[in-house]
Amino acid sequence: MENVTNVMEYEAIAREKLPKMVYDYYASGAEDLWTLQENRRAFSTILFQPRILVDVSKIDISTTILGHKISMPIMVAPTAMHKMAHPEGLTLSLWGTCSVEEVASTGPGIRFFQLQVFKDRNIVVQLVRRAEKAGFRAIALTVDTPRLGRREADIKNRFALPPNLTLKSFEGLGLGTIGRTNGSGLASYIADQVDPSLNWKDVEWLQTITKLPILVKGVLTAEDTRLAVQAGVAGIIVSNHGARQLDYVPATIMALEEVMKAAEGRVPVFLDGGIRRGTDVFKALALGASGVFIGRPVVFALAADGETGVRKVLQMLRDEFELTMALSGCRSIKEITRAHITTPWDSPR
Ligand code: FNR
Repeated sequence: MENVTNVMEYEAIAREKLPKMVYDYYASGAEDLWTLQENRRAFSTILFQPRILVDVSKIDISTTILGHKISMPIMVAPTAMHKMAHPEGLTLSLWGTCSVEEVASTGPGIRFFQLQVFKDRNIVVQLVRRAEKAGFRAIALTVDTPRLGRREADIKNRFALPPNLTLKSFEGLGLGTIGRTNGSGLASYIADQVDPSLNWKDVEWLQTITKLPILVKGVLTAEDTRLAVQAGVAGIIVSNHGARQLDYVPATIMALEEVMKAAEGRVPVFLDGGIRRGTDVFKALALGASGVFIGRPVVFALAADGETGVRKVLQMLRDEFELTMALSGCRSIKEITRAHITTPWDSPR
């Protein structure tokens, strides 16, 4: 493991270690995997315009999100069912295999709670109360899963949660034995419980039941950005769910600038999808993102080397990002500008 020099290398190690069904669940995307590849490819079309002879002997990569100071603009996205990767598990998806309270008790850090809305709104209220009590600082409302995307690897493998694990967030809510079903049981369970009628009115309702700031996760267009701002959300996460929902949506980095323009600086905008390098983080910030989230790299590192692997992933991304800043002539997050990159959609200079 000492030889691992970039975050992508953990994927091959995880692939060897994990049962095929589990690896496929983490790795796969929807249908033709077009968006999955595009999430990565799109970053490679954005080039740097580095500035030279700037005194970069001191670089500060810390930033503030939703009023909280964080040491770098790189955060961990909610991904489901970590305990299939490693017995300790780590961060919190609603579909987590650790409970809200277990995750909250792991030490300091700013944590957001990822939520989907269930037909039974009582369950939503209970989940929000638990997250508030456990000290979560915001709710990331996932809005791109009225139904589960078609992930063919999971269909082929008849993906099901291993029998020794449960979806802990749902325990004690009177929902029965979630995830205890066979075959495509989980998919059909989600389809049954998550409310496909979810709409902007519910986003407003959610704000009446909690004071926690609400971020909408899964925005890809200017139109929805304007509606989100109108609905009073605290922030937007540009996301295509790691290319696991609708195939042939654009790479998130391609959608970011349109969202930024529509947001008109009224709410912070974050991005996830395909972030694998410090250069990717810089590109997202140059296009206006306040921060980024990483999904699969954390899961694969967790599978390969547990907590050590996850720490190393965050450290490698931090080092690469700081180096990118130095080589671009940026000493602070504020100094990263649109002029530090060029994109295929820029007009010729
Ligand atoms: C996810 N994602 C996700 N999102 C969410 O809102 N709730 C969830 O439970 C999950 N679960 C989940 C499981 C796995 C295995 C993956 C890979 C992803 C999506 C996730 O939060 C994020 O949007 C993407 O993972 C970001 O893309 P990358 O970094 O994986 O390319």
